[in-house]
This record gives sequence, structure tokens and C-alpha cells, in this order.
Amino acid sequence: MNTTNNIKGSAAITFIGGLLVLLITLFLLVKLATTGYYSNVSDMQPSAVETRIQPTGRLTMGDGTPVGEREGKQVFDKVCIQCHGADKNVAFAPKVTHNDEWSARIAKGFDTLVAHAINGFNGVGQMPARGGDSTLTDDEVARAVAYMTNQSGGNFTAPAVQKGDAAASGASAPAGQSAAANGEAVFNKLCIACHAANSAFPNSPKITHNDEWAPRLAQGRATLVQHAIQGFKTMPARGGDANLSDADVEAAVVYMANQSGGKL
Ligand code: HEC
Ligand code: HEC
Repeated sequence: MNTTNNIKGSAAITFIGGLLVLLITLFLLVKLATTGYYSNVSDMQPSAVETRIQPTGRLTMGDGTPVGEREGKQVFDKVCIQCHGADKNVAFAPKVTHNDEWSARIAKGFDTLVAHAINGFNGVGQMPARGGDSTLTDDEVARAVAYMTNQSGGNFTAPAVQKGDAAASGASAPAGQSAAANGEAVFNKLCIACHAANSAFPNSPKITHNDEWAPRLAQGRATLVQHAIQGFKTMPARGGDANLSDADVEAAVVYMANQSGGKL
């Protein structure tokens, strides 16, 4: 009985030993085949790792900049440089600082270039939409275009970075804030002459007099803005200042109306 067990035991040990040798050989073979492969160190930088473990709704680049707030240089250095770098050689991609390659493109104007960069452009070569990075906002692409072209003979103004322009809250919040500040400034400079709370100007709805504004508010924002831009009865077009932009007039309308029971 004992002897049989011993024989069985040693057979098992031989079998397991053989298996081990086989496994070790396999392991070494695999190791041999893959030597020379290292994981990309820059992919494992703490900041890059943080990017991947951000909670949803707050996307940031590897450097921690919230989406929407990335500067032209950051976008260029990460995305566009792959094809537009000064020393790159991608068919037909105009290279940064090579003014001769850019001049005809710059002549198209900033808006066209930005539209092409956002939507993609296949004139002679293949420019992918947003350089292939769909997380880039329109403004971020525009900043990258300005950054790139301004080093290549262009002179464009990049859209300013609005801090707190988090992707989740949408771009409209900061735009609304600056519009509100603008609206107040325009009002205080111009509209106040006839729309001040204590103005004696006939028929003009006075700011904070909700009763005077209620029937006008009922017309809706678009109509109010249109009347303020084009003039309305004794209300002069653009409050009398022809140089005021549509956006400024609109901001003033919104400011005034919202102080007077409106929610524009
Ligand atoms: C995969 C390569 C590639 C990447 C990445 C890339 N581009 Fe391009 N880009 C091109 C090529 C190729 C062209 C030329 C297309 C043509 O003329 O047909 C081009 C052209 C352009 C133009 C000129 C368009 C015009 O109307 O002449 C702009 C502006 C531009 N790219 C901006 C950007 C920006 C901004 C980024 C980064 C966000 C970017 N590109 C990333 C390949 C790329
Ligand atoms: C010279 C005086 C005057 C100035 C300056 C003026 N307004 Fe008026 N505004 C009026 C009068 C008067 C009315 C009322 C017109 C009516 O309903 O008969 C009016 C009406 C309005 C209305 C309501 C229009 C509607 O459809 O009922 C808006 C909106 C408005 N003004 C915006 C502005 C803004 C914005 C400015 C400054 C950029 C401005 N106004 C500057 C005199 C003025």
C-alpha cells in the first residue's frame, strides 16, 4: 500500500516538475520575444494618469487644464504639432513658422481657417476635424489656429480664455456674465438718459418699474432687441449711438429688462 502511494507520489512530482519547466520555458520565450518593448513613460506621468481618472463631466488635459480653457500653445503642442510642427513632413500640412506655406491660407481670413480646422478640410491634403481631438472646443481650436498662424506671418486675435468655462456648465455661463457686465456699462453710459428709474423722458419704460416693462417684456427678447437696434417710435435706433454693436445693444436690453421683472 505504502509503496504504491510512493510510486504514485513520485509520478505526480515528476509531472508537476515537467509542467513547471514547460511554463518557465514559455515565460522566458515570451520575455525574449518582447524585450525592447517598454510602456510609454510619458503616458504614465502622474498628470497623464490623473487625466484618465478624472470623474466624468470634468474632462481635463494631462496638464489638468479644464476643457474649454486650454490655450493655443497647449493645444498646438499636444495635437496640431503632430502634423504642423516646423520639422514635420505630413503631405500638404502647412508647417508653423514656414510663412511661405501659410501666406495663401492666411489670406482666407481667420474665420475660414477656424471653420476649416473645426470641420476638417480636404483641399489637397487631409486636415482632420479638430485635428482629430474631438474634446477640443471651438474656441480652443481657434486659439490653436491663432497661435500657429501668428508665428507664420499672421496677425489674428485668439478668443480669450474664460476661466471657469467648464464643459459641464457650457460656454454660455461666462459669456452671459460678461454680457451682463457689458449691458450695465452700456446702460449707464447711454440708455440711462431716458430709461433711468427717475427719468422724465415721456413714454420710455423706466428701469426697475416692472409695471412699465411687463407689456413690453411680453413681446419677447427678439422683438425687444430688434426695436432697440432699429428704433421704435420715439426710441432712437441703438439709443442714438450708431457705433454701438448689436451685441452691446442686446446686452443693455437684457440688463435693463432683467432689472425690471424680466428673465431674458
Ligand atoms: C493628422 C495631421 C493633422 C493634424 C493633427 C492637424 N492638422 Fe491641420 N492640416 C493638416 C493638413 C494635411 C492640412 C492641409 C489640408 C489641405 O490643404 O488640403 C491642414 C491644414 C490646416 C489649416 C489650413 C486650412 C486652410 O483653409 O487652408 C489649419 C488652419 C489647420 N490645419 C489647423 C489645425 C489645428 C488648429 C490643428 C490642431 C488642433 C491641426 N490643424 C491638426 C493636417 C493636420
Ligand atoms: C432718447 C431717449 C432714449 C434713449 C437714449 C434710449 N431709449 Fe429706449 N426707449 C425710449 C422710449 C421713448 C421708448 C418707448 C417707445 C414707445 O414705446 O413709444 C423706449 C423703448 C425701449 C425699449 C422697448 C421697446 C419695445 O419694443 O417696447 C427697449 C428694449 C429699449 N428702449 C432699449 C433701449 C436701450 C438698450 C438703450 C440704450 C442703448 C435705449 N433704449 C436708449 C427712449 C430712449
